[in-house]
Amino acid sequence: MRRETSGKPQSLTLNKMTIEILTICGSLRSGSSNAKLIEAYSRCAPSGLTFTRLDTIGDLPIYNPDIDEDPLPSAVIEARSIVRSAELLIFSTPEYIHSLPAALKNLLEWLVGDPDFYGKKALILHANSSSQFALSELREVLSTMSAQILDQACVVVDLGSNKTTVDEILQNEDIKSSLVRSSEVMIQTFNKPNQSE
Ligand SMILES: Cc1cc2nc3c(=O)[nH]c(=O)nc-3n(C[C@H](O)[C@H](O)[C@H](O)COP(=O)(O)O)c2cc1C
Repeated sequence: MRRETSGKPQSLTLNKMTIEILTICGSLRSGSSNAKLIEAYSRCAPSGLTFTRLDTIGDLPIYNPDIDEDPLPSAVIEARSIVRSAELLIFSTPEYIHSLPAALKNLLEWLVGDPDFYGKKALILHANSSSQFALSELREVLSTMSAQILDQACVVVDLGSNKTTVDEILQNEDIKSSLVRSSEVMIQTFNKPNQSE
């Protein structure tokens, strides 16, 4: 788990100290383009947002209701606790075989039974606009879990190559402005008194 507070020039004022954001990448690959998109998002976000990366989804056991009882596996206890503490989840995931990567679906299966997940705010980034299924599937799963997806803050881009660096992502003005706009929509959502989009 890595925790950082963004420090970019403030374009919008946040009516609270910070927003605790947990980022979840569906790819375990070390050079993941989705992970780089998340990193680019946090680097150009307005100041005051706190980004924590959930980097243990590959450590979770395969979900089995037989082990979803006390004593829970320690990786599950930790992941549930980290997710519980987050005010907003940012997902970015590749599509695998017209579906979600198993590691991400497995995490969501471990989380679905947690009553605290109800109403959790979430937004989705995606690094490959040619994927046809993963995004709608993630939306369906999160909606079924009663997450509140911030539709106006979701961003789909095409990085063109899995080798694109974070700096190159940020040098692309169209992508950068989409990411900044997304974080502004997110802040506006949190600034609303009823905290709904
Ligand atoms: C096992 C596997 C299955 C894949 N299946 C699909 C697919 O069904 N549709 C698709 O558009 N891309 C598919 N891809 C390509 C990845 O989604 C694509 O390379 C993505 O950008 C990888 O994300 P990452 O760089 O974050 O790891 C697949 C890749 C792998 C490794």
